[in-house]
Amino acid sequence: MKKVFIVASAFAVACLLIVSCSKKNDTTLSNPGGGNNGGGGSNPPPTCDTVNMKYAANVVPILSGNCYSCHSGSNPSSGIRLDSYANLKSYASSGTLTGVINHSPGYPAMPEGGGKLSDCDINTIQDWINNGIQNN
Ligand code: HEC
Repeated sequence: MKKVFIVASAFAVACLLIVSCSKKNDTTLSNPGGGNNGGGGSNPPPTCDTVNMKYAANVVPILSGNCYSCHSGSNPSSGIRLDSYANLKSYASSGTLTGVINHSPGYPAMPEGGGKLSDCDINTIQDWINNGIQNN
């Protein structure tokens, strides 16, 4: 008698779990479909403005997102810190910065272990270099 009761309640619990699980799945699945942002219509190509790129506004955000994880703080990779204008300037004016982000032969490809920066990011840094590596 006891055994039957235990088996029956275990079965009931299992049923509840299955029901609540499948309910959860239903709501998760229905969400992405509902979040369709209009769709159709005109789809403008992603723009990449690389004219007059500035150190603080344009270059630093790229470096902080892709390079500072290794090249900043008190124990940077290979002792190379890029989180100050003066340091970055020396790598930029020697051509090393251009070499590493373009994965040019003779330079270690950066970001190390990650994918190449997007063309937009590379062009942004390149424009800043071409404009004289200013602290702007
Ligand atoms: C995962 C850690 C890591 C990340 C992220 C990273 N680096 Fe490096 N970086 C290194 C290491 C390690 C070296 C030394 C590699 C070597 O000498 O072969 C290095 C070397 C360099 C050098 C010196 C190259 C030379 O020839 O003297 C520069 C400049 C550089 N990185 C720039 C960058 C830039 C710019 C980014 C972001 C786009 C970046 N790194 C992202 C780890 C990293």
